[in-house]
Amino acid sequence: MKIFRTAEELNNVLQDHRSNGDRIGFVPTMGALHSGHASLIEEAKSKCDRVVCSIFVNPTQFNDPGDLEKYPRRPEQDISVLEAHECDFLFYPSVEDVYPEGMDYRLDFELGYLDETMEGKFRPGHFQGVAQVVYQLLSIVEPTHLFMGMKDFQQLAVVDKMIRDMELPVKLIPCDTVREPDGLAMSSRNLRLSREMRASASVLYETLQMVKIWVLKFNPEQVTQMAIEKIRQKGLKPEYFELVDPQTLLPIHKVHPPMVVVACVAAYADEVRLIDNMVIKA
Ligand code: PAJ
Repeated sequence: MKIFRTAEELNNVLQDHRSNGDRIGFVPTMGALHSGHASLIEEAKSKCDRVVCSIFVNPTQFNDPGDLEKYPRRPEQDISVLEAHECDFLFYPSVEDVYPEGMDYRLDFELGYLDETMEGKFRPGHFQGVAQVVYQLLSIVEPTHLFMGMKDFQQLAVVDKMIRDMELPVKLIPCDTVREPDGLAMSSRNLRLSREMRASASVLYETLQMVKIWVLKFNPEQVTQMAIEKIRQKGLKPEYFELVDPQTLLPIHKVHPPMVVVACVAAYADEVRLIDNMVIKA
């Protein structure tokens, strides 16, 4: 795997592949790579001729400076993961390379309701930062395909809107969530869970599985109450639980089959904030 520290070096190599008409798959990450990230690399390899992964802990998407500082950084381990999965190129830039005009120079992305609900409500400014960095990275890498995880369902919706609004020539490929054997969605945050909380945290997945059945019998308001109660019983503190439309993320007030809804949840396991979701075909 070739590693590039600057946009210029990366572009020199990618230019040849672009002029060959190669499909270039791009997997943006913030590092601390686990099997969820690896699955995106594998998906990109199966659909593209060359795969670029980026590792960049983006300061503009952290609404809490403490969180930015605490974010795990372990480049050596990450490089081994990427090499084991035969990723072709790693882009590992500095802040100056991603933001040559400075971090305060920003496009104002029109995210509307996508930025007001759920994660947007609890993490002000987060999605503007995500849209900004994905836009910058796409301008540098110019991939044909962009691979992102359904684990961050709202992030996918935000990036999808940004791509459409900016008319970027890239195909966004949503990838399935990779889970631990007990159902907990893989996340670098899972390592921060105490042994007890790690055992309880599978309640998020168990609840989402139950919701698939509950939506057929109860109205969304009742389902929400039942889900929140089930999560609380395991000692986690739910921040929100919502049944939403997959495109608009607007709340669903009545489920009538055949209908696709997404159940989205965020909860604190002690001080560790976990999110998960499930697409439900009612
Ligand atoms: P990060 O949290 O490192 O995630 C990188 C990509 O991996 C995202 O597309 C995310 O949805 C996906 N991912 C995370 N956990 C996963 C899992 N268990 N299964 C499948 N995919 C998973 O998301 C970000 O970084 C950043 O916001 C980024 C998009 C890189 C912009 O800075």
